[in-house]
This record gives sequence, C-alpha cells and structure tokens, in this order.
Amino acid sequence: MKETILRLKKEKNALIMAHYYQRDEIQEIADFIGDSLALARKAAETDADIIVMCGVHFMGETAKILSPDKKVLVPDMDAGCSLADSCPADDFKTFVEAHPDHTVISYVNTSAAVKAHTDIVVTSGNALKIVSALPADEKIIFGPDRNLGSYINSVTGREMVLWPGACHVHDRFSLEKILELKKAHPEAKVLVHPECKRPLQLIADKVGSTAALLAFAQEDDAPEYIVVTESGILREMRLKCPEKRFIPAPPDEAGCQCNECDYMKLNTLQKVYECLRDETPEIHVDAEVAAKAVRSIERMLELS
Ligand code: 13P
Ligand code: SF4
Repeated sequence: MKETILRLKKEKNALIMAHYYQRDEIQEIADFIGDSLALARKAAETDADIIVMCGVHFMGETAKILSPDKKVLVPDMDAGCSLADSCPADDFKTFVEAHPDHTVISYVNTSAAVKAHTDIVVTSGNALKIVSALPADEKIIFGPDRNLGSYINSVTGREMVLWPGACHVHDRFSLEKILELKKAHPEAKVLVHPECKRPLQLIADKVGSTAALLAFAQEDDAPEYIVVTESGILREMRLKCPEKRFIPAPPDEAGCQCNECDYMKLNTLQKVYECLRDETPEIHVDAEVAAKAVRSIERMLELS
C-alpha cells in the first residue's frame, strides 16, 4: 500500500502533508509533517499540482485558500474539528458586529467562513507573538478557543474578549491525573498544548504548539516528559529524541482514548491511497469567502 501511494504521488506530482496527530503509518509516507502553521506555510509555497492534506477539514481549506490553483484533497471529508464546530460562522458574525471597535483574531481551527469575518488568523505557534506585536491599547476579540485566549491574556496582561469554544480532546485532560503521573515521575517535565485548561497550563514546564513542544524536548535536558496533547505527536518526539522517555498524559476516565482526536484518526492509509487514486474528495471554498479569508491568513503569514 505504501509503495503504491508513493508511486502514485510521483506520477501525479502530489505532495502529501500530515499533521503530527495523524496515524503513524500516514506520517511515515508523508513528504512533510508539521503543526498547523508549518502546514499553512508549506501549502503556500509548494509547486506540486495536488496537495493531499492528511489532517482535518480546516487544514485543507487553509491550503486551498492559499493555493487556489491546486487540487487539495483530504482523505476523509468527515475529519472535522470540535473546536471549529464550536464557532458557527453566523454566530461569530453577530459576535464581531457586537464589538465594532475591536480587531478580530481567530485561531486557524475555524471554518473559511469564520476566517472571512477575521482580521488576523493565528495558530498556537504564533498567537502569542502576533498578539504581543499589536499596540497595547488595541481592543481585540479572540475566537474560538477560550483556553488559548486566556493563556495569551495571562501572558500579555491583555483583556481580549474571548469566544467560549474548546477542543474536546484538550479540554478534558485531567489535572488530578497529571499531578499523580508527575508524582510517579518526579524528573519528568510537563509539556502542555495551550488548548488545555488554565490549571494545566499553570503546572506546565512548557506551553506551546505541537512544533514548539517538540522543539523544547529536543533542546531541553530532562530525561522524561509528560505530554499533554494528542498522542500522535509522540511518534515524532520519540524519533527526534530516542534517548528520552515520553509519557502520554492519561485520559480522564480509565479505558477511554481521550488523548486521541477521533477526527484526525479518521484518515487511514487506505483512504490516502483512494483519494490519491480517484482525486477525490476535493476541497472547494466559495470564491467570495476565500477572497475575504485569504487576507486574514496572509496577514498571519506576514506577521509571523
Ligand atoms: P497545532 O497548531 O499545534 O498544530 O495544533 C493544531 C490542533 O488542532 C491542536 O489540537
Ligand atoms: Fe480540532 Fe481538537 Fe482535533 Fe485539534 S485535537 S483537530 S482542535 S478536535
């Protein structure tokens, strides 16, 4: 299966991109693996004819908006995102209209329609930098992730108005269980994605995007890390730091795979093969929406 995918990819001048949360076997055949920011940057600069975005729907949309002439495929159209779903575009528009003198900042985990109502898109990899670069008295509304928003507020001292959205994976990691794990592994440092709740951010040795957590583990000298984000990132951490031990954060209930994003895991090797073979399902973004959304994404790329 892998060989066939690699052959098809070459024949069709396709680029296979994968987010760190993808299944191991998909990361193994990808040309490029990264966090949301790196995937957006790569999509904007590639000269491939086809982009196979192994991630979730909004990642495919962002790629299509940045590379409208390319065919952007996603292996499973049902690979959505609970965080993006927590922010319907019509409700967000009402929220924006209720704050007329505010700059609108949206996390990349949103639909193209929400990005069309946004001034600047951010990812977890650049949100702090971009918000910090804005004048201190600039009024900001931030959506849809309330945990990332409150993290930025706490670090910058700002009072951004937050949309009350959250990710179903990151929002349910248990502080209690992670403290127990920390007791059992006193030398371990705690790596936390900013989509996790505030108490988890407060006990973290590092809060950052998947790429930032990976970079921290590579540069740091601890022997062990408790990784409080989706467990797909463990593959790359173990590859990059084979001498270190990475312990996945425990889910909140015994037996539940709460540290896995079921949307990300909808993509399989079989679906990657079929989508490359049949060149479907393909991402389409309404031209009017794309024309508005591209401004906020390009603003992000300029500022980061
Ligand atoms: P990154 O920006 O770290 O890639 O995170 C994306 C995401 O969906 C986290 O849940
Ligand atoms: Fe969305 Fe959460 Fe899955 Fe990331 S982990 S894609 S935020 S549902």
